[in-house]
Amino acid sequence: MRVAMIGTGYVGLVSGACFADFGHHVTCIDKDREKVEMLRSGGIPIYEPGLDQLVQRNVREERLSFDTDLTQAVKEADAVFIAVGTPSRRGDGFADLSYVHAAAKEIAEVMDGYTVIVTKSTVPVGTGDEVERIIRETRPDGDFAVVSNPEFLREGAAIDDFKRPDRVVVGTEDERAREVMSELYRPLYLNETPILFTTRRTSELIKYAANAFLAMKITFINEMADLCESVGANVQEVARGVGLDNRIGGKFLHAGPGYGGSCFPKDTLALTRTAQEAGTPLRLIETTVEVNDRRKHDMAKKVVKAMGGDVSGKTIAVLGLTFKPNTDDMREAPSLDIIPALQDAGAKIRAYDPAGIVEAEKMLKDVEFTSGPYLCAEGADAIVIITEWNEFRALDTERLKSVMAGDIMVDLRNIYSPEDIQKRGFNYTSVGR
Ligand code: UDX
Repeated sequence: MRVAMIGTGYVGLVSGACFADFGHHVTCIDKDREKVEMLRSGGIPIYEPGLDQLVQRNVREERLSFDTDLTQAVKEADAVFIAVGTPSRRGDGFADLSYVHAAAKEIAEVMDGYTVIVTKSTVPVGTGDEVERIIRETRPDGDFAVVSNPEFLREGAAIDDFKRPDRVVVGTEDERAREVMSELYRPLYLNETPILFTTRRTSELIKYAANAFLAMKITFINEMADLCESVGANVQEVARGVGLDNRIGGKFLHAGPGYGGSCFPKDTLALTRTAQEAGTPLRLIETTVEVNDRRKHDMAKKVVKAMGGDVSGKTIAVLGLTFKPNTDDMREAPSLDIIPALQDAGAKIRAYDPAGIVEAEKMLKDVEFTSGPYLCAEGADAIVIITEWNEFRALDTERLKSVMAGDIMVDLRNIYSPEDIQKRGFNYTSVGR
C-alpha cells in the first residue's frame, strides 16, 4: 500500500514510521522545510524511545521518505492520513480545526483515482462530515472516502502502542475503504488485535470517550488520595484493592499531581464543549476538568505545608518537569503550575529534568536549571519530585541528603516507600499515604 501522511508531529511521525515498518510505502509531509531536511538526514525532532532507529531503518530500506509538498505522494496514495494538530482554540476550548480543513482542501486539489482520506488527528464528532464536504466541494467528481481512525498512542511508549495496540478503531461505512484499512493494518491480524469497524461519528467519539474516561479514572484516585490523607488510609493499597476487580482494572490508578500532556487536558475540554453544544452536557467530565485544574495549584500548597507553612527565602529543588517520564513534552505539565505558585510564595527554585530542560527554559522564569539531581539538591531546603523518571527512583539518598541544607522531601508520585525514606533521615510527604 502507498500512504501519504500529512503532518510530521508526534502522531504523524510515529504512525508513518510504523506503517513503513509494516512494509507499506510511506511519504510523510510537512510544510516545515527545516524539519523535513532534519528528518531526511536521520534527525528526529521529538523525543520518543526507539523512533530514531525505526525512522532511519525504514528510510534506508526506502519505504519511508519525507517531503514538503504533498502533490506526488497524494496522487500515488491508496490512503492519505491527516495527522495535523488540533490545538484548543483560545477562549472557548473547542478544538481548532483550521489545519485539518486546510489539509482536506489541499488533498482534494491533487488526489487521483480512488483515495481513502483518514483523519488520525483527534477531531470532534462530525469533523469527518465536514472534511467530506470540503473535498466534495473542491472535487465534485472525486472518487474518495473519508474515514476516522483515531490513535491511542502514549508518549514514551508510542511505537509499542502502535504495533501492539489493545484495539484499532476504524470509522467508515464504505466497503472499499474498509478493505484498504484492513490491508494497512494486516500485520496486526497476526497478534489478533481486534479491529473495530464502526460508523465515522462513533469512531470519532470513541477517542474522546476513552481519553475522558482515563482522565476521570486518574481524577477519581487523586480525590481518593486526598480522602486517604484526611482519614489515615493508604491510596496505593486502595488502588490495588479496587484495581484487582477485573471490572475496574488496576491501570491509571496512580495518584499524583494531576494529569497533563498534549491529550487529556485538551480532549476533555473539547468533549465538554461538544456535549454542551449538543445540549447533552457531560457533568462528570466537566467536574474532572475542574478538579484536575485545581489540583495542580493545590500541589503547591501541599509543598508549602510540608515546609512548615512559609517558603519565602527558601530554596526548593524540583526533580522532574515534563508531564510524565520518557518525554521532553512540557505541555500542561503540573510543574508549570506548581513552580510559579511556589515562586509567588517567595521560594527560590532550582530544577532538573533528564529531557525537558530545553522546553522548560522557554516556559518557566527565574528557575536555576541544573544538570543532575545532586547538583539540583545542593543547598536546598526541600526536594520536590514532580515527575517519576526512573533515574529518581534509585537516588543515592545519603549523598542527596548530605548536599542539602534541609531534610524535606515531597514526593508527588509516590516513588519512595515512606518507611524507607524516613529511616534515611528525610522528613517525607507523599500523596495519599
Ligand atoms: C494519553 C493516552 O494514554 C493516549 O491513549 C492518547 O492517545 C493520548 O493521551 P499520554 O498523554 O502520552 O497519552 O500519556 P499517559 O501515559 O496517558 O498520561 C497522561 C497523564 O496522566 C500524565 O500526566 C500522567 O502523569 C497522568 N497519569 C497517568 C496519572 O497521573 N496517573 C495514572 O495512573 C496515569
